[in-house]
Amino acid sequence: MNTDIERVIVGKDEIDKMVERIGKEITRDYKDKELVIIGILKGGFIFMADLVRKIDVNCKIDFMSVSSYGASTKSTGAVKIIKDVDIDVNGKNVLLVEDIIDTGLTLTYIRDLMEGRGAQSVKIVSAFDKPSRRKVELKADYEGIQVPDEFIVGYGLDFNNFYRNFPEVGVLRPEKYIKK
Ligand code: IMP
Ligand code: MG
Repeated sequence: MNTDIERVIVGKDEIDKMVERIGKEITRDYKDKELVIIGILKGGFIFMADLVRKIDVNCKIDFMSVSSYGASTKSTGAVKIIKDVDIDVNGKNVLLVEDIIDTGLTLTYIRDLMEGRGAQSVKIVSAFDKPSRRKVELKADYEGIQVPDEFIVGYGLDFNNFYRNFPEVGVLRPEKYIKK
């Protein structure tokens, strides 16, 4: 697998520091509150697991799965719920944990959905961000690491469902981006 990665863009140390920093920010902001942390599957699972252990706040954990890229490296813009949360978010402080914000469509949809369900507050945290690619105005409340407009894999991010377990973030060798 590692030989498929052409170039590492974000290394382990930088990721660890980002998780540590954001964990502190969230701990400070929700000190005496209760939080429902919702990880967006599948890509968010590794960041979620790292981040929640840096958050010293009473929280419930849930997951939601929505469709995104499929086997293509371009966003379709279509958002479909594949797995919904079990927890009732009505009156709750919700934090959405995502791997990367690209066009912003996915998180805009989920944020609006949670607000529609009566959440008291909805905030967004994303490990990575490609601000140059937005189709809708959306800013993370807790900002991870900005990455260039390149298709990246690792730390939860996939290509065709592979490479999520690569511990850092990198770009694949061009021939690997061909759909099999
Ligand atoms: P958005 O709705 O366009 O913001 O898309 C967000 C989703 O697209 C993320 O949850 C990722 O699954 C996927 N995505 C965006 N950019 C990349 C990338 O560079 N590599 C892998 N997945 C990506
Ligand atoms: Mg995804």
